[in-house]
Amino acid sequence: MAQRAHWGSRMGFILAAAGSAVGLGNIWKFPYITGENGGGIFVLIYLVCIVVIGLPIMMGEIFIGRTAQNSPVGAFRALSKPGSPWLGVGWLGVACAFVILSYYSVVAGWALHYIYLSIKGGFTGMDADTVGGVFNDLFADKTLNIFWHVLFMVMTVGIVIGGIQKGVERWARILMPLLFIMMIALLIQAMRMDGFKQAVSFLFTPNTENFRWGPATLEALGHAFFTLSLGMGAMITYGSYLKSDDDLVTTSITVGVLDTVIALMACLVLFPIIFTFGMEPGAGPGLVFVSLPIAFGQMTGGAIWSLLFFGLLTFAALTSAISLLEVAVSYFIDERGWSRPFSTLFCGLIILFLGIPSALSGGTDLFGSKMVNLTEKVLGEGNGKNWFDSFDYLATNWMLPLGGLGIALFVAWRVGGQAREQGFKAGTKFGKLYWGWVFLLRYIVPLGVVAVFLYSIGVIDFAE
Ligand code: PFF
Repeated sequence: MAQRAHWGSRMGFILAAAGSAVGLGNIWKFPYITGENGGGIFVLIYLVCIVVIGLPIMMGEIFIGRTAQNSPVGAFRALSKPGSPWLGVGWLGVACAFVILSYYSVVAGWALHYIYLSIKGGFTGMDADTVGGVFNDLFADKTLNIFWHVLFMVMTVGIVIGGIQKGVERWARILMPLLFIMMIALLIQAMRMDGFKQAVSFLFTPNTENFRWGPATLEALGHAFFTLSLGMGAMITYGSYLKSDDDLVTTSITVGVLDTVIALMACLVLFPIIFTFGMEPGAGPGLVFVSLPIAFGQMTGGAIWSLLFFGLLTFAALTSAISLLEVAVSYFIDERGWSRPFSTLFCGLIILFLGIPSALSGGTDLFGSKMVNLTEKVLGEGNGKNWFDSFDYLATNWMLPLGGLGIALFVAWRVGGQAREQGFKAGTKFGKLYWGWVFLLRYIVPLGVVAVFLYSIGVIDFAE
């Protein structure tokens, strides 16, 4: 068997793992859910979720991958036994990679379209309705959605086909520093705006007035999984390319900090713009694709800022998409013995087709409003979802937390204590954290995840 690929350096791994974590979740989703949930207090709860739930699972995933030197399914087999039900967690992860990337690529495609619009002159002189119309037209346009989705998938496949060092790591080394520089440039611009002070106080003053603790906590918890790329074996896969004495504690903390810093920076870029132009922070998913362009349309040099912002969004999405594809690709390489090029093309094509219904979800037919009517019957009145929303709901609310629960239980209860302790302590100065890590994985993580499920199926209800 060919020797397993490894990262060129620890920095390469950190950049690739941070690239996976930092994505649409940080720049598109985090600001809007923070806006919808009242700002500061939500940020605080989110930080707690990252520390007590997210980081322990990330360390657990990297531990599994690094110890087994294998992608998720093979890793669970190596650490339990062939045919063990734990392999199901690995399978779930592979399935999840297909599901998430199929719709993730559609949103990344919107970012590509907005780059194109920015180059064409941006949103200068457009009023709010016109900008809203631009997004609605894009959402409903089948050809455009499919075109950008295909282009984004081609880019992702083009990188993953190059392998770990020459594909994933090399591109993470290029895109992540660029992403950071673009973010700083945008932040400097945002700091000069009138709304900056208001944005800082919105983000960092915990205000519990009208705050709905239950739903907000669960939203924060679910997002902690998504934003750190946890629960589906992405970090198991990336961890499997580490050498067995690489420090998993420091690297996990670094990745968690980078991810959080970028998410907060995204808010510090967006909210000053939103406040300066008198718009609402709670605008929902349209915050980035509608509210922000409205503001860009009124700013001097708006087209440039808009190009910079949507370029940033695309880079962030690309380094995350790579990791999603890598989970699927590594499965076929490790388990089926396929070559990397064949496996990448195969997975890329399947995901491309699987994404087409999501790309068509803005329409009125089968995958759009007809599907909304259908899901209303299952999920109840007012909960109807098109194909795109259904995939997102299934992955974020069910598959990731379930996978995360499996990973936590596996590491905390199934893996031998000695192997676990040695693995955690290998190469790190933070060996003292070992018992804290095990405690969180044993009790706190399962409790948190089960609460999310009970909420999702309506057993816990937060009536106003
Ligand atoms: N962490 C990515 C984001 O915040 O956009 C999304 C993601 C990537 C989730 C990779 C899961 C994953 F395996």
